[in-house]
Amino acid sequence: MRAYHAEHQRSIDQPNDFWKEQARRIPWFKPPETILSYDDQNHARWYEDGELNTCHAALDHHVETGRGEQPAIHWDSPVTGQRRTLTYRELRDDVAKFAGALASLGVAKGDRVVIYMPMVPEALVAMYACARLGAVHSVVFGGFAAHELAVRIDDAEPRIVIAASCGIEIDRVLPYKPILDQALAQSQHRPAACIVLQREQARADLGPGDHDWQTLVSAASPVDCVPVRGTDPLYILYTSGTTGKPKGVVRDNGGHAVALHYSMERIYGMSPGEVFFSASDVGWVVGHSYIVYAPLIYGCTTVVYEGKPVRTPDAGSFWRLISEYQVKAFFTAPTAFRAIKKEDPDGRLLEKYDISCLRALFLAGERLDPPTFHWLEDLLKIPVIDHWWQTETGWPIAANLQGLDPMPVKAGSATVPVPGFNVQILDRSAETTAPCEQGSVVIQEPMPPGCLAGIWHDPKRFHSAYMAAFPGYYLTGDAGYIDQDGYLFVMGRTDDVINVAGHRLSTGEMEEVVGSHPAVAECAVIGIQDDLKGQVPLGLVIPKDGFDGDTDKLERELVALVREQIGAIACLKQMLVVSRLPKTRSGKILRKLLRTIADGEEFGLPSTIDDPASLQDVHDTMIDRRVGEAHKARLR
Ligand code: COA
Ligand code: AMP
Repeated sequence: MRAYHAEHQRSIDQPNDFWKEQARRIPWFKPPETILSYDDQNHARWYEDGELNTCHAALDHHVETGRGEQPAIHWDSPVTGQRRTLTYRELRDDVAKFAGALASLGVAKGDRVVIYMPMVPEALVAMYACARLGAVHSVVFGGFAAHELAVRIDDAEPRIVIAASCGIEIDRVLPYKPILDQALAQSQHRPAACIVLQREQARADLGPGDHDWQTLVSAASPVDCVPVRGTDPLYILYTSGTTGKPKGVVRDNGGHAVALHYSMERIYGMSPGEVFFSASDVGWVVGHSYIVYAPLIYGCTTVVYEGKPVRTPDAGSFWRLISEYQVKAFFTAPTAFRAIKKEDPDGRLLEKYDISCLRALFLAGERLDPPTFHWLEDLLKIPVIDHWWQTETGWPIAANLQGLDPMPVKAGSATVPVPGFNVQILDRSAETTAPCEQGSVVIQEPMPPGCLAGIWHDPKRFHSAYMAAFPGYYLTGDAGYIDQDGYLFVMGRTDDVINVAGHRLSTGEMEEVVGSHPAVAECAVIGIQDDLKGQVPLGLVIPKDGFDGDTDKLERELVALVREQIGAIACLKQMLVVSRLPKTRSGKILRKLLRTIADGEEFGLPSTIDDPASLQDVHDTMIDRRVGEAHKARLR
């Protein structure tokens, strides 16, 4: 039996023993006696009576055991021309002082703190300072607009909001403070204060209740780590679901630390002291797990990159960073490499750098399409690993475990379930499918440590979104199959979630925004194929009776409305006014059919369609408006 199979089997057959052993590798204040227990929804909880502090495990513990002078963070910011390295000791000291500053504003264990910051070291300082106090952070991605920030503020009810004065995109400075002020004007909840990190590229005007980060820190005294229970929340991270309201995924402290530690060794094949680089953003789960927490819990150095894969300044940036910081494992989304490949198809820029330090490349966030996989494999000649996970799980569900038992790669597959995850494929009647037969990808309870503890303040939604479809199983929302060799292929979502440039977005939410326009009678937003971003949204609308007929203007207004309400990151650039939408006789819009037409694939007339002529109308409009042309040209 392969080492992988033995370890996976043991993790499923003896979860208590398996995760008890793993837990010994974390510095607890009080080691847990209860390993696995269940909440009232029969969902696994881990280490409920253990006591620890995640900031202590990631920083203080390493300083105390000899890593004080090792770099913890390499911050590299081509958009500002700055870079900085912080050792574990320096980071611990900065965090302890900033935690003191938060405490001086009344932040205590269990309080929530919303963080709206770009990729600067202070974002990590703020997150760890919350963890140090036992407070619960909720980081909001900088690409989200005021409305999205307001929704999160209302749901998390933070005592404090921490923001930077600006973020920097490739060609422009984006002031954050006006967005924060707008969000606070829209939200019902009132935080007690805001802390603003002033950046020289755009200093913010501070009002009453606003504190300058530096001033506050200079007056603060460092504070110690507050012990929390294994099951106490570390953070809330909002993610798109099927409705307009994002889901607040709650992560605990104990299971999270144990799972991330395990993953660094077994999945990523890292050793403490080495450099790990994940090119994502602190606003996403990849950033939380593999920029902020896992590398430091495991004693590695993390690279914090404030830049893009291309145009900051060119498509060789990743190679430069890997070479300069001697990165051993690199992780990003496939879309980033599609952008690089577009600008540097022969990988010429790689010739400028020695990246022989790099052992493996990891990709996630969306399916690794075979052309990108082959391009990378030919160029790099190291293992190119697709691995699959989601905000809810917090760490990979399926991967090719580089530190346990590397397996042959199959293009298009995320390889095998990670130990701890009992992955099954079920058909509509909850029967396990035959090998290679597609179905719903589910995880049998107990889910391993590190996965979501619930939805913030909404146990009903947790149940309906994840646990109700197949009792005893967690519904991932993805469809896929397992082949005869046990390899998992994840093929796409079964719900209204789409993946745009590795960013998870809800078409349902976009429909709510479009539908709020006074001239719109009905609308559908679907995700269509895109060569660079994987998917992009496309909107179809039917105007209300009495609409003045200026369809161009309406389409422009709707594009602008989505950008204003959700943010530029939504990437909804094309709206089509149509006279009718294809529906079933019971009135359901045939979204899958719309996607098929937009992607230029073969389609038939479904027997349930109410008005067949509506299909021809939509089809003709899509052809007229050249929907998805670039993608279709490649298919031909
Ligand atoms: N703050 C504010 N705005 C942001 C932002 C941020 N943090 N991130 C993106 N945006 C804006 C962009 O400027 C762009 O605005 P525009 O419409 O005015 O041009 C818009 O949101 C869309 O951004 P994006 O989808 O990122 O497209 P892009 O063309 O700027 O870049 C890629 C394309 C592929 C280079 C980029 O998407 C990328 O690096 N993707 C990797 C994604 C990733 O790491 N995902 C995490 C999961 S692992
Ligand atoms: P997020 O919560 O933003 O990480 O998005 C999670 C979703 O992205 C998953 O449910 C999948 O639909 C998709 N996804 C992430 N990684 C992969 C992958 N390696 N292969 C296929 N889909 C992926």
